[in-house]
Amino acid sequence: MQVINKTIKLSNDYPMPVLGFGTYGLSKDNAEAVILEALNVGYRHIETAPIYLNETAIAKAIQKSGIPREALFITSKIPPHIKTYDGTLRIIKRTMNNLGVDYLDALLINNPVPWGEEGKDYTQENVEVYRAMETLYNEEVVGTLGLSNFSVSEMEKLLPHLTITPHIHQVGVFIGHPLNDVCAYSHKQGMVIQGHSPLARGRIFKIDFLAPLAQKESMSIAQLALRYVLELGIYPVVKTESRKRMEENITINKPLSKETFKTLNEYTKDIRDYLPPNAKYVL
Ligand SMILES: NC(=O)c1ccc[n+]([C@@H]2O[C@H](COP(=O)([O-])OP(=O)(O)OC[C@H]3O[C@@H](n4cnc5c(N)ncnc54)[C@H](OP(=O)(O)O)[C@@H]3O)[C@@H](O)[C@H]2O)c1
Repeated sequence: MQVINKTIKLSNDYPMPVLGFGTYGLSKDNAEAVILEALNVGYRHIETAPIYLNETAIAKAIQKSGIPREALFITSKIPPHIKTYDGTLRIIKRTMNNLGVDYLDALLINNPVPWGEEGKDYTQENVEVYRAMETLYNEEVVGTLGLSNFSVSEMEKLLPHLTITPHIHQVGVFIGHPLNDVCAYSHKQGMVIQGHSPLARGRIFKIDFLAPLAQKESMSIAQLALRYVLELGIYPVVKTESRKRMEENITINKPLSKETFKTLNEYTKDIRDYLPPNAKYVL
């Protein structure tokens, strides 16, 4: 079976497609067409967030595709700046309205802290956000719950306060940045990892040794990178606006050779280190 048609079961038995389609950064003008194309290619997991400002485009694309709601898996996220119980319920009501759906398959806390507040302790606020998410889960408005971009210590502080252990942790994982500690801890708690930015937002193509390695495996660099993430036991969420690349990114059934996997796993230089120190990016 092709990877694109596979699903896995989360810890509450809720099925999640193995591959996700990312929608961050799609421009207002082409978001609907790109998402419709992705649905036509076969993607069934759409990853979004209110701050991506593309929810109505997603709603229109789903409607045009004719794909029944129950065949789709939609992940959304509570924006980093929303850290209250009521704010969480309010934003999700709006999100579902914009998306034209009456339930979400996965709802995550987008970030442990508001942007720019790195290093601060938002445990109590995240407990409140998650409590609202648990309410939505208990009302069967949300199928699964999760976190995104949490460190081990942030999870250690948060988890004891939760009634429902998160089903998903979404983190940025790519060649040179496997986040082993966070993934191991999350797996130990029973969470499945969604790997966002598996191509490091396109920076992966700047790693010199990947081209010959990909050639050796008869794959493109993107396929090598996605296959690597998958073989780490992580489920990638990848974005592209090109139909050709959408098709390329789902053609990742062939396993990597042991030597190639080892080479990739031993490479631990985060490509983001090559950026100028003042470059702004969030992964
Ligand atoms: N939770 C979070 O905080 C968080 C953070 C970041 C991202 N995300 C989610 O994860 C999704 C994916 O991450 P991302 O968008 O940051 O980055 P990504 O998927 O790692 O990379 C996307 C970039 O790679 C290019 N690309 C895609 N397929 C390619 C291929 N086969 N060959 C060459 N280039 C290719 C795309 O260009 P083209 O579009 O021009 O093809 C785009 O520039 C996001 O869209 C979002 O839904 C979540």
